[in-house]
Amino acid sequence: MALRRQAEDRMRQVLRTFRYREVQTPAFEELELFLAKSGPSIRDELYDFKDKSGRELCLRPELTAPVMRFYFSEMTREPKPLRLFYIGPCYRYDRPQAGRYREFWQVGVEVIGDESPESHAELLWLALNLFRAAGLETLVFRVGHLGILRSVLADVGGIPLDQQAPLMRLIDKRELPELEAAVRARGGAWDRLAPFFHAQTFEDLEALTMPGPAQEGVGHLRALFKTLAGFGADLSKVRLDPMIARGLEYYTGLVFELDCPDLGAEKQLLGGGAYDLSGLFGAQPVATVGFALGFDRTLVALERTARLPPIEERVDALVAALADGARPAAQALANRLRNEGQVVELDLSGRPPKKALARADQIKARQAYLVGDRELARGVVTVKDLDTGDQQERPLHT
Ligand code: HAM
Repeated sequence: MALRRQAEDRMRQVLRTFRYREVQTPAFEELELFLAKSGPSIRDELYDFKDKSGRELCLRPELTAPVMRFYFSEMTREPKPLRLFYIGPCYRYDRPQAGRYREFWQVGVEVIGDESPESHAELLWLALNLFRAAGLETLVFRVGHLGILRSVLADVGGIPLDQQAPLMRLIDKRELPELEAAVRARGGAWDRLAPFFHAQTFEDLEALTMPGPAQEGVGHLRALFKTLAGFGADLSKVRLDPMIARGLEYYTGLVFELDCPDLGAEKQLLGGGAYDLSGLFGAQPVATVGFALGFDRTLVALERTARLPPIEERVDALVAALADGARPAAQALANRLRNEGQVVELDLSGRPPKKALARADQIKARQAYLVGDRELARGVVTVKDLDTGDQQERPLHT
Protein backbone atom coordinates (compact mmCIF):
# COMPACT_ATOMS: atom_id res chain seq x y z
CA MET A 1 0.00 0.00 0.00
CA ALA A 2 2.89 2.39 0.70
CA LEU A 3 4.09 1.91 -2.88
CA ARG A 4 0.61 2.28 -4.33
CA ARG A 5 -0.03 5.43 -2.33
CA GLN A 6 3.30 6.88 -3.33
CA ALA A 7 2.64 6.31 -7.04
CA GLU A 8 -0.91 7.62 -6.61
CA ASP A 9 0.26 10.76 -4.80
CA ARG A 10 2.79 11.49 -7.51
CA MET A 11 0.20 11.04 -10.26
CA ARG A 12 -2.31 13.19 -8.38
CA GLN A 13 0.33 15.90 -8.08
CA VAL A 14 0.98 15.80 -11.87
CA LEU A 15 -2.78 16.01 -12.54
CA ARG A 16 -3.02 19.09 -10.34
CA THR A 17 -0.12 20.78 -12.14
CA PHE A 18 -2.03 20.30 -15.43
CA ARG A 19 -5.04 21.89 -13.67
CA TYR A 20 -7.31 18.89 -13.67
CA ARG A 21 -9.99 18.73 -10.97
CA GLU A 22 -10.83 15.52 -9.16
CA VAL A 23 -14.27 13.93 -9.29
CA GLN A 24 -15.67 10.82 -7.70
CA THR A 25 -18.71 8.75 -8.60
CA PRO A 26 -20.36 5.77 -6.88
CA ALA A 27 -18.94 2.28 -7.41
CA PHE A 28 -22.35 1.12 -8.66
CA GLU A 29 -24.48 2.56 -11.42
CA GLU A 30 -27.68 1.73 -13.22
CA LEU A 31 -27.01 -1.19 -15.56
CA GLU A 32 -28.78 0.70 -18.33
CA LEU A 33 -25.99 3.29 -18.50
CA PHE A 34 -23.50 0.70 -19.74
CA LEU A 35 -25.98 -1.25 -21.87
CA ALA A 36 -26.91 1.97 -23.66
CA LYS A 37 -23.25 2.85 -24.12
CA SER A 38 -21.84 -0.48 -25.30
CA GLY A 39 -24.79 -2.66 -26.29
CA PRO A 40 -26.38 -5.69 -24.59
CA SER A 41 -23.37 -7.98 -25.04
CA ILE A 42 -21.44 -5.92 -22.49
CA ARG A 43 -23.62 -7.55 -19.84
CA ASP A 44 -21.44 -10.68 -19.91
CA GLU A 45 -18.51 -8.56 -18.83
CA LEU A 46 -20.27 -6.86 -15.95
CA TYR A 47 -21.03 -7.57 -12.33
CA ASP A 48 -24.74 -6.86 -12.51
CA PHE A 49 -27.38 -7.44 -9.86
CA LYS A 50 -30.81 -6.41 -8.65
CA ASP A 51 -31.12 -4.46 -5.42
CA LYS A 52 -33.93 -5.01 -2.88
CA SER A 53 -36.26 -2.76 -4.85
CA GLY A 54 -35.63 -4.66 -8.06
CA ARG A 55 -33.48 -1.95 -9.62
CA GLU A 56 -30.99 -3.30 -12.15
CA LEU A 57 -27.56 -2.14 -11.11
CA CYS A 58 -23.97 -3.01 -11.80
CA LEU A 59 -20.51 -2.34 -10.49
CA ARG A 60 -18.91 0.16 -12.85
CA PRO A 61 -16.52 -1.37 -15.39
CA GLU A 62 -14.99 2.03 -16.11
CA LEU A 63 -15.58 5.67 -15.26
CA THR A 64 -16.09 7.50 -18.53
CA ALA A 65 -19.85 6.93 -18.69
CA PRO A 66 -20.34 7.66 -14.94
CA VAL A 67 -18.30 10.86 -15.20
CA MET A 68 -20.31 11.97 -18.23
CA ARG A 69 -23.52 11.19 -16.35
CA PHE A 70 -22.21 13.40 -13.54
CA TYR A 71 -21.23 16.08 -16.06
CA PHE A 72 -24.62 16.17 -17.79
CA SER A 73 -26.54 16.24 -14.53
CA GLU A 74 -24.40 18.72 -12.54
CA MET A 75 -21.64 20.42 -14.48
CA THR A 76 -22.87 21.56 -17.90
CA ARG A 77 -22.67 25.20 -16.82
CA GLU A 78 -19.00 25.00 -15.81
CA PRO A 79 -16.68 27.08 -18.00
CA LYS A 80 -15.00 25.08 -20.78
CA PRO A 81 -12.68 23.45 -21.32
CA LEU A 82 -13.41 21.44 -18.23
CA ARG A 83 -10.66 19.04 -17.19
CA LEU A 84 -11.62 16.29 -14.77
CA PHE A 85 -9.73 13.37 -13.27
CA TYR A 86 -10.59 10.33 -11.16
CA ILE A 87 -8.82 7.59 -9.31
CA GLY A 88 -10.94 4.64 -8.32
CA PRO A 89 -11.79 0.94 -8.50
CA CYS A 90 -13.51 -0.67 -11.51
CA TYR A 91 -15.03 -4.14 -11.84
CA ARG A 92 -15.15 -6.44 -14.84
CA TYR A 93 -16.38 -10.00 -15.01
CA ASP A 94 -13.15 -11.14 -16.64
CA ARG A 95 -11.19 -14.34 -16.32
CA PRO A 96 -8.42 -13.24 -13.96
CA GLN A 97 -4.81 -13.69 -15.03
CA ALA A 98 -1.54 -11.84 -14.63
CA GLY A 99 -2.37 -8.14 -14.98
CA ARG A 100 -6.09 -8.80 -15.50
CA TYR A 101 -8.24 -8.59 -12.42
CA ARG A 102 -11.92 -8.50 -11.57
CA GLU A 103 -11.33 -5.49 -9.39
CA PHE A 104 -8.72 -3.04 -10.57
CA TRP A 105 -8.01 0.65 -10.25
CA GLN A 106 -8.00 3.24 -12.97
CA VAL A 107 -6.49 6.69 -13.01
CA GLY A 108 -8.32 8.58 -15.72
CA VAL A 109 -9.16 11.96 -17.15
CA GLU A 110 -11.92 13.45 -19.28
CA VAL A 111 -11.63 16.80 -21.07
CA ILE A 112 -14.91 18.43 -22.02
CA GLY A 113 -15.21 21.21 -24.60
CA ASP A 114 -11.91 21.16 -26.52
CA GLU A 115 -11.22 18.95 -29.51
CA SER A 116 -8.25 20.79 -30.99
CA PRO A 117 -5.17 18.75 -31.93
CA GLU A 118 -3.25 20.92 -29.48
CA SER A 119 -5.45 19.90 -26.58
CA HIS A 120 -5.21 16.26 -27.69
CA ALA A 121 -1.42 16.59 -27.74
CA GLU A 122 -1.42 17.94 -24.21
CA LEU A 123 -3.55 14.98 -23.16
CA LEU A 124 -0.95 12.51 -24.47
CA TRP A 125 1.81 14.55 -22.87
CA LEU A 126 -0.07 14.35 -19.56
CA ALA A 127 -0.25 10.54 -19.91
CA LEU A 128 3.51 10.33 -20.43
CA ASN A 129 4.05 12.57 -17.42
CA LEU A 130 1.87 10.39 -15.22
CA PHE A 131 3.96 7.32 -16.00
CA ARG A 132 7.19 9.21 -15.61
CA ALA A 133 6.07 10.41 -12.18
CA ALA A 134 5.47 6.80 -11.20
CA GLY A 135 8.92 5.83 -12.48
CA LEU A 136 8.05 4.18 -15.82
CA GLU A 137 9.69 5.35 -19.02
CA THR A 138 9.95 2.31 -21.30
CA LEU A 139 6.67 2.90 -23.04
CA VAL A 140 5.28 2.94 -26.54
CA PHE A 141 2.40 5.18 -27.49
CA ARG A 142 0.29 4.10 -30.48
CA VAL A 143 -2.00 6.69 -31.98
CA GLY A 144 -4.77 6.22 -34.52
CA HIS A 145 -7.98 7.81 -35.72
CA LEU A 146 -11.34 6.14 -36.19
CA GLY A 147 -12.47 8.79 -38.69
CA ILE A 148 -9.60 7.71 -40.93
CA LEU A 149 -10.20 4.01 -40.38
CA ARG A 150 -13.93 4.18 -41.07
CA SER A 151 -13.55 6.34 -44.18
CA VAL A 152 -10.83 4.11 -45.60
CA LEU A 153 -12.93 1.01 -44.99
CA ALA A 154 -15.81 2.68 -46.82
CA ASP A 155 -14.08 4.65 -49.60
CA VAL A 156 -11.11 2.41 -50.32
CA GLY A 157 -12.38 -0.97 -49.20
CA GLY A 158 -15.98 -0.56 -50.28
CA ILE A 159 -17.39 -1.61 -46.91
CA PRO A 160 -20.24 0.72 -45.92
CA LEU A 161 -20.36 2.10 -42.38
CA ASP A 162 -23.24 -0.12 -41.29
CA GLN A 163 -21.28 -3.26 -42.17
CA GLN A 164 -18.08 -2.31 -40.42
CA ALA A 165 -18.80 -3.43 -36.86
CA PRO A 166 -17.66 -7.09 -37.19
CA LEU A 167 -14.55 -5.93 -39.06
CA MET A 168 -13.65 -3.45 -36.33
CA ARG A 169 -13.49 -6.29 -33.86
CA LEU A 170 -11.02 -8.20 -36.05
CA ILE A 171 -8.99 -5.05 -36.67
CA ASP A 172 -8.82 -4.43 -32.93
CA LYS A 173 -7.46 -7.93 -32.38
CA ARG A 174 -5.12 -7.60 -35.39
CA GLU A 175 -6.39 -10.83 -36.91
CA LEU A 176 -5.35 -10.04 -40.48
CA PRO A 177 -6.15 -13.38 -42.18
CA GLU A 178 -9.65 -13.39 -40.65
CA LEU A 179 -10.03 -9.74 -41.59
CA GLU A 180 -9.09 -10.46 -45.20
CA ALA A 181 -11.65 -13.26 -45.36
CA ALA A 182 -14.34 -11.03 -43.85
CA VAL A 183 -13.62 -8.16 -46.25
CA ARG A 184 -13.66 -10.48 -49.25
CA ALA A 185 -16.87 -12.14 -48.04
CA ARG A 186 -18.54 -8.71 -48.08
CA GLY A 187 -17.30 -8.02 -51.60
CA GLY A 188 -14.72 -5.52 -50.32
CA ALA A 189 -11.48 -4.58 -52.10
CA TRP A 190 -8.91 -6.26 -49.86
CA ASP A 191 -5.97 -5.63 -52.17
CA ARG A 192 -6.53 -1.89 -52.05
CA LEU A 193 -7.24 -1.96 -48.34
CA ALA A 194 -4.33 -4.10 -47.11
CA PRO A 195 -1.58 -1.43 -47.47
CA PHE A 196 -3.53 0.83 -45.09
CA PHE A 197 -3.05 -1.61 -42.21
CA HIS A 198 0.69 -1.46 -42.71
CA ALA A 199 0.91 2.35 -42.97
CA GLN A 200 3.58 3.77 -40.68
CA THR A 201 4.04 7.38 -41.75
CA PHE A 202 1.89 10.37 -42.50
CA GLU A 203 2.99 10.09 -46.12
CA ASP A 204 1.72 6.48 -46.22
CA LEU A 205 -1.60 7.61 -44.80
CA GLU A 206 -1.92 10.54 -47.15
CA ALA A 207 -1.28 8.34 -50.16
CA LEU A 208 -4.03 5.96 -49.05
CA THR A 209 -6.75 8.39 -48.02
CA MET A 210 -9.22 10.47 -49.96
CA PRO A 211 -10.18 14.08 -49.39
CA GLY A 212 -12.84 14.44 -46.71
CA PRO A 213 -12.94 13.05 -43.17
CA ALA A 214 -9.99 10.71 -43.73
CA GLN A 215 -7.58 13.41 -44.82
CA GLU A 216 -8.91 15.76 -42.16
CA GLY A 217 -8.08 13.04 -39.65
CA VAL A 218 -4.55 12.76 -41.00
CA GLY A 219 -4.18 16.55 -40.72
CA HIS A 220 -5.40 16.35 -37.13
CA LEU A 221 -2.82 13.71 -36.27
CA ARG A 222 -0.04 15.67 -37.98
CA ALA A 223 -0.84 18.76 -35.92
CA LEU A 224 -1.08 16.64 -32.78
CA PHE A 225 2.36 15.10 -33.32
CA LYS A 226 3.88 18.51 -34.00
CA THR A 227 2.47 19.93 -30.77
CA LEU A 228 3.55 16.85 -28.85
CA ALA A 229 7.12 17.40 -30.03
CA GLY A 230 6.82 20.98 -28.79
CA PHE A 231 6.32 19.68 -25.26
CA GLY A 232 9.58 17.77 -25.55
CA ALA A 233 8.08 14.30 -26.06
CA ASP A 234 10.36 11.66 -27.56
CA LEU A 235 8.54 10.96 -30.82
CA SER A 236 10.53 7.78 -31.43
CA LYS A 237 8.23 6.27 -28.81
CA VAL A 238 5.02 7.59 -30.34
CA ARG A 239 3.85 5.62 -33.38
CA LEU A 240 1.07 5.94 -35.88
CA ASP A 241 -1.10 2.86 -35.64
CA PRO A 242 -3.97 2.67 -38.15
CA MET A 243 -5.31 -0.52 -36.53
CA ILE A 244 -6.51 0.85 -33.21
CA ALA A 245 -10.26 0.31 -33.12
CA ARG A 246 -10.78 0.29 -29.31
CA GLY A 247 -13.40 -2.42 -29.41
CA LEU A 248 -16.79 -1.32 -30.50
CA GLU A 249 -17.11 1.42 -28.01
CA TYR A 250 -18.09 5.03 -28.23
CA TYR A 251 -15.02 6.54 -29.82
CA THR A 252 -15.38 8.91 -32.74
CA GLY A 253 -11.99 10.29 -33.84
CA LEU A 254 -8.61 10.19 -32.12
CA VAL A 255 -7.83 6.88 -30.40
CA PHE A 256 -4.67 5.81 -28.62
CA GLU A 257 -3.16 3.07 -26.54
CA LEU A 258 0.04 2.87 -24.57
CA ASP A 259 1.98 -0.33 -23.96
CA CYS A 260 4.79 -1.36 -21.73
CA PRO A 261 6.76 -3.82 -23.92
CA ASP A 262 8.25 -5.48 -20.83
CA LEU A 263 4.87 -6.95 -19.94
CA GLY A 264 3.41 -9.98 -21.69
CA ALA A 265 -0.15 -10.33 -22.88
CA GLU A 266 -1.54 -7.65 -20.59
CA LYS A 267 0.90 -5.00 -21.69
CA GLN A 268 -1.63 -2.29 -22.38
CA LEU A 269 -1.31 0.24 -19.61
CA LEU A 270 -3.58 2.93 -20.98
CA GLY A 271 -6.29 3.51 -23.54
CA GLY A 272 -8.43 6.41 -24.62
CA GLY A 273 -9.63 8.73 -27.31
CA ALA A 274 -12.24 11.22 -28.43
CA TYR A 275 -15.84 10.15 -27.98
CA ASP A 276 -19.38 11.40 -27.72
CA LEU A 277 -21.81 10.14 -25.10
CA SER A 278 -24.21 13.10 -25.24
CA GLY A 279 -26.85 10.95 -26.98
CA LEU A 280 -27.15 8.75 -23.87
CA PHE A 281 -28.29 11.75 -21.89
CA GLY A 282 -30.44 13.36 -24.57
CA ALA A 283 -28.05 16.30 -24.66
CA GLN A 284 -26.44 18.38 -27.39
CA PRO A 285 -23.16 16.90 -28.66
CA VAL A 286 -20.10 18.14 -26.82
CA ALA A 287 -16.45 17.46 -27.67
CA THR A 288 -15.03 15.01 -25.16
CA VAL A 289 -11.76 13.16 -24.98
CA GLY A 290 -10.06 11.19 -22.26
CA PHE A 291 -8.05 8.20 -21.19
CA ALA A 292 -7.69 5.77 -18.33
CA LEU A 293 -4.59 3.99 -17.19
CA GLY A 294 -4.59 0.67 -15.38
CA PHE A 295 -3.05 1.46 -12.03
CA ASP A 296 -2.45 -2.15 -10.96
CA ARG A 297 -0.79 -2.96 -14.27
CA THR A 298 1.41 0.08 -13.90
CA LEU A 299 2.66 -1.28 -10.60
CA VAL A 300 3.22 -4.73 -12.12
CA ALA A 301 5.24 -3.02 -14.87
CA LEU A 302 7.32 -1.18 -12.28
CA GLU A 303 7.98 -4.48 -10.51
CA ARG A 304 8.90 -6.32 -13.72
CA THR A 305 11.27 -3.62 -14.86
CA ALA A 306 12.79 -3.48 -11.37
CA ARG A 307 11.86 0.17 -11.23
CA LEU A 308 9.85 0.10 -8.06
CA PRO A 309 10.91 3.29 -6.32
CA PRO A 310 12.11 3.01 -2.74
CA ILE A 311 9.38 3.80 -0.28
CA GLU A 312 9.88 7.17 1.28
CA GLU A 313 8.73 6.44 4.79
CA ARG A 314 9.70 9.37 6.90
CA VAL A 315 9.87 8.84 10.67
CA ASP A 316 10.72 12.07 12.43
CA ALA A 317 10.92 10.91 16.00
CA LEU A 318 10.66 8.17 18.53
CA VAL A 319 9.35 9.48 21.86
CA ALA A 320 10.01 7.08 24.72
CA ALA A 321 8.91 7.17 28.36
CA LEU A 322 11.67 5.43 30.27
CA ALA A 323 9.56 5.02 33.42
CA ASP A 324 5.88 4.75 34.27
CA GLY A 325 5.87 8.21 35.87
CA ALA A 326 7.21 9.77 32.66
CA ARG A 327 4.27 8.61 30.55
CA PRO A 328 2.13 11.78 30.72
CA ALA A 329 5.13 13.94 29.80
CA ALA A 330 6.01 11.66 26.86
CA GLN A 331 2.37 11.68 25.72
CA ALA A 332 2.23 15.48 25.87
CA LEU A 333 5.49 15.70 23.93
CA ALA A 334 4.21 13.27 21.26
CA ASN A 335 1.00 15.32 20.99
CA ARG A 336 3.00 18.48 20.44
CA LEU A 337 5.26 17.00 17.76
CA ARG A 338 2.36 15.32 15.95
CA ASN A 339 0.41 18.59 15.99
CA GLU A 340 3.40 20.13 14.24
CA GLY A 341 3.00 17.48 11.55
CA GLN A 342 5.89 15.26 12.63
CA VAL A 343 5.66 11.48 12.23
CA VAL A 344 6.12 10.08 15.71
CA GLU A 345 6.28 6.60 17.18
CA LEU A 346 5.41 6.67 20.87
CA ASP A 347 6.88 4.09 23.21
CA LEU A 348 5.24 4.00 26.63
CA SER A 349 6.71 0.64 27.62
CA GLY A 350 9.28 2.09 30.01
CA ARG A 351 12.14 0.11 28.52
CA PRO A 352 15.72 1.16 29.23
CA PRO A 353 17.31 3.93 27.14
CA LYS A 354 19.55 1.53 25.22
CA LYS A 355 16.59 -0.48 23.97
CA ALA A 356 14.63 2.66 23.14
CA LEU A 357 17.55 3.91 21.06
CA ALA A 358 17.89 0.54 19.33
CA ARG A 359 14.22 0.82 18.36
CA ALA A 360 14.75 4.37 17.07
CA ASP A 361 17.60 3.03 14.97
CA GLN A 362 15.49 0.14 13.69
CA ILE A 363 12.67 2.37 12.43
CA LYS A 364 15.20 4.92 11.08
CA ALA A 365 13.82 7.75 13.18
CA ARG A 366 15.66 11.02 12.74
CA GLN A 367 15.47 11.86 16.44
CA ALA A 368 14.83 10.05 19.70
CA TYR A 369 13.23 11.86 22.64
CA LEU A 370 13.85 10.11 25.95
CA VAL A 371 11.93 11.07 29.11
CA GLY A 372 12.81 9.29 32.35
CA ASP A 373 12.45 10.11 36.04
CA ARG A 374 15.81 11.88 36.00
CA GLU A 375 14.79 14.15 33.11
CA LEU A 376 11.34 14.69 34.56
CA ALA A 377 12.73 15.96 37.86
CA ARG A 378 14.70 18.61 35.99
CA GLY A 379 11.95 19.47 33.43
CA VAL A 380 14.05 18.35 30.44
CA VAL A 381 14.03 15.72 27.73
CA THR A 382 17.10 14.01 26.25
CA VAL A 383 17.13 14.42 22.48
CA LYS A 384 19.41 12.28 20.37
CA ASP A 385 19.95 13.06 16.71
CA LEU A 386 20.28 9.65 15.05
CA ASP A 387 22.00 11.08 11.96
CA THR A 388 24.81 12.92 13.72
CA GLY A 389 24.85 11.05 17.04
CA ASP A 390 24.59 14.37 18.91
CA GLN A 391 22.81 14.21 22.21
CA GLN A 392 21.50 17.15 24.21
CA GLU A 393 18.96 18.08 26.81
CA ARG A 394 16.11 20.40 25.96
CA PRO A 395 13.39 21.91 28.12
CA LEU A 396 10.40 19.53 28.27
CA HIS A 397 7.84 22.33 27.89
CA THR A 398 8.52 24.83 25.13
P1 HAM B 1 -10.01 0.54 -21.26
O1 HAM B 1 -9.00 0.40 -22.35
O2 HAM B 1 -11.12 -0.40 -21.20
O3 HAM B 1 -10.53 2.04 -21.39
O4 HAM B 1 -9.26 0.51 -19.87
C1 HAM B 1 -8.17 1.38 -19.59
C2 HAM B 1 -7.04 0.62 -18.94
O5 HAM B 1 -7.51 -0.08 -17.77
C3 HAM B 1 -6.45 -0.50 -19.79
O6 HAM B 1 -5.50 0.00 -20.70
C4 HAM B 1 -5.81 -1.39 -18.75
O7 HAM B 1 -4.51 -0.91 -18.38
C5 HAM B 1 -6.72 -1.22 -17.55
N1 HAM B 1 -7.59 -2.41 -17.41
C6 HAM B 1 -8.68 -2.73 -18.13
N2 HAM B 1 -9.22 -3.90 -17.72
C7 HAM B 1 -8.44 -4.34 -16.70
C8 HAM B 1 -8.46 -5.50 -15.84
N3 HAM B 1 -9.42 -6.43 -15.94
N4 HAM B 1 -7.48 -5.63 -14.91
C9 HAM B 1 -6.51 -4.68 -14.80
N5 HAM B 1 -6.44 -3.58 -15.57
C10 HAM B 1 -7.38 -3.41 -16.51
C11 HAM B 1 -11.50 2.58 -20.57
O8 HAM B 1 -11.86 2.09 -19.54
C12 HAM B 1 -12.00 3.94 -21.03
N6 HAM B 1 -13.00 4.41 -20.04
C13 HAM B 1 -10.85 4.92 -21.17
C14 HAM B 1 -11.29 6.28 -21.57
C15 HAM B 1 -11.42 7.35 -20.77
N7 HAM B 1 -11.68 6.65 -22.77
C16 HAM B 1 -12.05 7.91 -22.75
N8 HAM B 1 -11.90 8.36 -21.53
